Amino acid sequence: MAAGKNVERITDAIRTNTGFGWHEHDPALFEGTERFFRQGYLANLVSSWIPALDGVDAKLAAGAKVADVGCGHGASTLLLAESYPMSKITGFDYHDRSVDLARTRAAEAGLAARLSFEVAAAADFPGTEYDLVAVFDALHDMPDPLGAAQHIRQSLKPDGTFLLVEPYARDTVEDNLNPVGRQYYTASTVVCVAHSMTEEPRTALGAQAGETRLTELLHDAGFTRVRRAAETSFNLIIEARP
Ligand SMILES: C[S@@+](CC[C@H](N)C(=O)[O-])C[C@H]1O[C@@H](n2cnc3c(N)ncnc32)[C@H](O)[C@@H]1O
Repeated sequence: MAAGKNVERITDAIRTNTGFGWHEHDPALFEGTERFFRQGYLANLVSSWIPALDGVDAKLAAGAKVADVGCGHGASTLLLAESYPMSKITGFDYHDRSVDLARTRAAEAGLAARLSFEVAAAADFPGTEYDLVAVFDALHDMPDPLGAAQHIRQSLKPDGTFLLVEPYARDTVEDNLNPVGRQYYTASTVVCVAHSMTEEPRTALGAQAGETRLTELLHDAGFTRVRRAAETSFNLIIEARP
């Protein structure tokens, strides 16, 4: 695993409770994360996850305002731009190097005119009146996932949708002790929780938060209608509405 390239610094950060930021990792981690999650997005995002959301496919096809928050190298952002040419799509990430690479990926794919990427944190990305805000495998990494969800809630149109894609998990440790859950707990400890500990309030949700905890967080952020829209072996797909 790419995080192993910094094993001593990460071990020290865990021992001292100081955290280890996403941006401090070797770039191989960013590349590996993109390759790992991209397969699931390719197989499911446009064919089943978007259609599972109430009315979102039609809005995107007609031309919607969309934000992909914590977009990394833009694997999901590019897919949305490719599939919904009428929509205006912006990818945001706090990590400038990932944003640069996402822009390169967009240019390589000939999609640069259809979307944009900006450096911004989840708790204060710009724009209002979004039809759709999506977070793919990133909310649990954030030091303040509640603050991020509250900001997303405020940035949406009254009938907008928050698409939250998280690593698949059940609600208890015992129920996650399977090959996928064990892998996620490992990555979560050295990458996701370590990043979440870098800033207050250091929530450390972890990649195996589970549907109940995620639903509570979304209700606390002001969403009134929250439901599981879909799932795969690797992802939980949650729809949250204002
Ligand atoms: C596991 S990666 C997922 C990247 C991308 N969504 C994907 O699925 O390939 C988590 C991403 O969250 C970003 N991130 C972490 N904390 C953030 C924050 N507070 N605001 C915005 N992005 C953040 C990281 O920079 C990283 O790109």
